Amino acid sequence: TVSYSFELVNSTCDPDGSGSSRPCQLFNGQLPGPTVRANWGDTISVTLTNKLTTNGTGIHWHGIRQLNTGDQDGVPGITECPLAPGQSKTYTWLATQFGTTWFHSHFSAQYGDGATGQIIIDGPASSNYDIDLGAMPLTDWYYQDSWVVGLQAHASLQAFAAPPPADTILINGTNMSPNNQTGAYSKTTGLVAGKKYRLRLINISVDNPLRVSLDGHPFTVITSDLVPIKPWTTNWILIAIGQRYDVIFTATAANAKVGNFWLRVHYAAQCLSSGNNNPNALGIFSYANAPSGNPASTAYTEPADCIEPLSNLVPWVSNTVNSTAFLNQVGNLEVDISVPGLDGNGQNIVIWGVNLSAIDVNWDKPTTQYVKDGNTSYPTNLNLIELPTEGIWSYWIIQEPSNSPVPIPHPIHLHGHDFYVLGTGSGIFDKNTSPSTLKYTNPPRRDTAFLPGGGWLALAFPTDNPGAWLMHCHIAWHVSDGLAVQFLEGKSSSKFPLGDSSWDANCKSWNTFDATMP
Ligand code: C2O
Repeated sequence: TVSYSFELVNSTCDPDGSGSSRPCQLFNGQLPGPTVRANWGDTISVTLTNKLTTNGTGIHWHGIRQLNTGDQDGVPGITECPLAPGQSKTYTWLATQFGTTWFHSHFSAQYGDGATGQIIIDGPASSNYDIDLGAMPLTDWYYQDSWVVGLQAHASLQAFAAPPPADTILINGTNMSPNNQTGAYSKTTGLVAGKKYRLRLINISVDNPLRVSLDGHPFTVITSDLVPIKPWTTNWILIAIGQRYDVIFTATAANAKVGNFWLRVHYAAQCLSSGNNNPNALGIFSYANAPSGNPASTAYTEPADCIEPLSNLVPWVSNTVNSTAFLNQVGNLEVDISVPGLDGNGQNIVIWGVNLSAIDVNWDKPTTQYVKDGNTSYPTNLNLIELPTEGIWSYWIIQEPSNSPVPIPHPIHLHGHDFYVLGTGSGIFDKNTSPSTLKYTNPPRRDTAFLPGGGWLALAFPTDNPGAWLMHCHIAWHVSDGLAVQFLEGKSSSKFPLGDSSWDANCKSWNTFDATMP
């Protein structure tokens, strides 16, 4: 058993020296947050104490299967009550996967205030690389807290306009301020020619898909989320919010003579609504004995699309999805948006949902959607989809209508499972023609995938893990506006972790839990 103990504390953050000093909420006061590191097969035990003054919290272990431990998934309102200020809770789970992932608060949009950390599970020994550079969390960052920016985002969405752009992008919790050149570049030093380096890239953003490249050093990609894949090489990698890619690059003698190279982290403009202009960020990679000064390296040509590289994500462990069963049983989940007006507090209401139902508010008659710090009502609308038993497959087309007023890609994330990504397309999925493009034999497998803007995403997963699993868009503004469903899987199974037949009643009382904070 590997044990950690975290306190979530109120703090102020000015990671690029811009002088913004915004409120933030940090595990153990750290930005980026702490790293949980263990071996495949270890039990991980983390005690969280909520030292915030006015907010509930919890920790969700993004991408961790929680096989038969769905009660450790850490989702307030779904698998637990929020942890109130002063309370502690210990999460215990088994590392059944290996690779790179992250953890974050799943309470409101709190993770955008810094409540995140990294997870590295070391797997079988590898001779593919020499040096593990560890995790590199990448995030958009705002000079105001998530509450303030969230309200601005809702206000712009009322006019179907772009949300406020991020003020900067942080690489490992730091950046040079785009405005006044304060702060510091993230630096990785001491590269040695001939060595191979493993870098674990994680997009922990609130709103932005990111594209990453290291000048002069192509990436060999070896994982997609927690799934080992056949190596493929690329100069730029597009990472949706919540996704991870582990990459290997080789330090060369020719590059050692040059010494310094830019790491480029760009927001992926093609994946955003027009007008959402964010800054880009740079980091520095240096060889041992490199000259001082900034790099003068040249960027690779950046792709101008928003396409997840599905055909390159080939899992080592091969699996087949039954095409006949898929075609006979596939269900449809439509991503919808509604803009009904103002709530009882005079705040803008924008609702995102699935099949005209949002997880936190009444689709037709929203009353109070946003309440700051306390008196928060937990969802009365649970958006439950019951999956009857264990041992069947669940098949879904996630569709954004092509006439959506805001047709942008959504990073769709499922808890408790890796899903099989059978394919994506633009426009409306057509049962007669679209299936011919699906990949049923060894499709990519991961826990977060892009739903193309105004298009469709075809998913499959086996129901082998009893629990209540959230599936949601990982854009923080969208999930807090209701873009989520929960799969209630194997509820009658003896392994169902969230209680017996009284569970429904308990869950309702959890979901109306009044988190009035001191
Ligand atoms: Cu990163 Cu619902 O999770």
